[in-house]
Amino acid sequence: MRDKKILFGVCGSIAAFKAAGWVSSLAQEGAQVHVVMTAAATRFVTPLTFSALSGNPAHSELFAAGMEHIALSAAADAVLIAPATAQTIARLAHGLADDLLAASVLACAAPVLICPAMNCRMLAHPATQRNLAVLREYGCRIVEPDSGRLACGEEGTGRLAEWDTVREALLGLLAKQDMAGERVLITAGPTQEPLDPARFLSNRSSGKMGYALARTARRRGAEVTLISGPVALAPPPDMNVIPVRTALEMAEAVSRHATAASIVVKAAAVADFRAAAFSAQKIKKTAADLLLALAANPDILAALGSKRRSGQLLIGFAAESSSHEAEGRRKLLAKNADLIVVNDILGSSTGFEADTNQVTLITRNSSETLELLSKEETADRIWDKALCLLQDRAAVGAENRA
Ligand code: CTP
Repeated sequence: MRDKKILFGVCGSIAAFKAAGWVSSLAQEGAQVHVVMTAAATRFVTPLTFSALSGNPAHSELFAAGMEHIALSAAADAVLIAPATAQTIARLAHGLADDLLAASVLACAAPVLICPAMNCRMLAHPATQRNLAVLREYGCRIVEPDSGRLACGEEGTGRLAEWDTVREALLGLLAKQDMAGERVLITAGPTQEPLDPARFLSNRSSGKMGYALARTARRRGAEVTLISGPVALAPPPDMNVIPVRTALEMAEAVSRHATAASIVVKAAAVADFRAAAFSAQKIKKTAADLLLALAANPDILAALGSKRRSGQLLIGFAAESSSHEAEGRRKLLAKNADLIVVNDILGSSTGFEADTNQVTLITRNSSETLELLSKEETADRIWDKALCLLQDRAAVGAENRA
């Protein structure tokens, strides 16, 4: 979001109070937010609130200051309208320019994200549905409202979508769509291997790196399937999320979805062993030491590498505490992967629970250590590398055919 210019339209709905929090979040992420309010919106939240939160004057008067709508529109990288009422949706669908927000959108060439919020019958009315269809036709992106209890007390569809969903859609509008057409399969998180009804074997993986890969790929236009072990993270919006628990469940889910994928990323920290026999009763404490018998889990990445279809790109991770590069290269060859992302599990700002990471990207003929970055920035760099590998492969294919 850093330095992105967001024209934030607010309409007259009780959900306008939520927009105040969103403006604040955007400003904290470094975006330059310019709020334009409809006259009705100013009845719910004052322009002063939005000015204070965005650090820029909030506008609502079409005739107040010269050619304000042209200046605001020309500068915007994206337009976000939230909450978008039936009235403003109708205005925009008909190309009206009778208030500052409608005029600004009409004069704007930047992508537009619309987040409807209204009573469920107003939303379901054919007039609103037709207006939304027209806006989609004009290239606007609509974030579908949620279902639940509405401000009027009724239950139905019409609640303003959650910020996480809207933020992802906005980041998608701002990102280059260089992964459009790619079908990406990502595994994330740890696996849990049950020992008895009370206990399991697992590891410290938080899933943050895999989830960052999933979100960034989706933003860049890829279709994403995320197979996730048990984590404390919310499922990212707008993708197929498949929860699993054990390594065997993960292996089964991966084999079901891998064939369709153009890129597979095994970011999960798969438990190498499971209990040789699950005890249906709780294992009781005795005076003697306990020896657990463990059975080896299948190596999911190695299985993918041994029978992958041509053209598929295979990316693995290597969680290491020593001999990082040598171990990464050994795993690259042993598992027949195209890229291994090595990370240090001992560093406090890298590896398991951290929000940052410092990784080395190892391919057959290169090795590159990235700087310390957020996990989302690291994910973007991994995708950049993956796209380069795909391009190189396409170039070699074209050469061979020539
Ligand atoms: N992996 C897998 N299935 C397993 C174990 C690992 O698919 N049963 C994948 C991981 O998702 C990762 C890569 O293999 O992409 C390397 O995982 P890592 O735990 O670093 O290495 P291991 O092969 O398990 O070897 P070791 O634990 O001895 O380092």
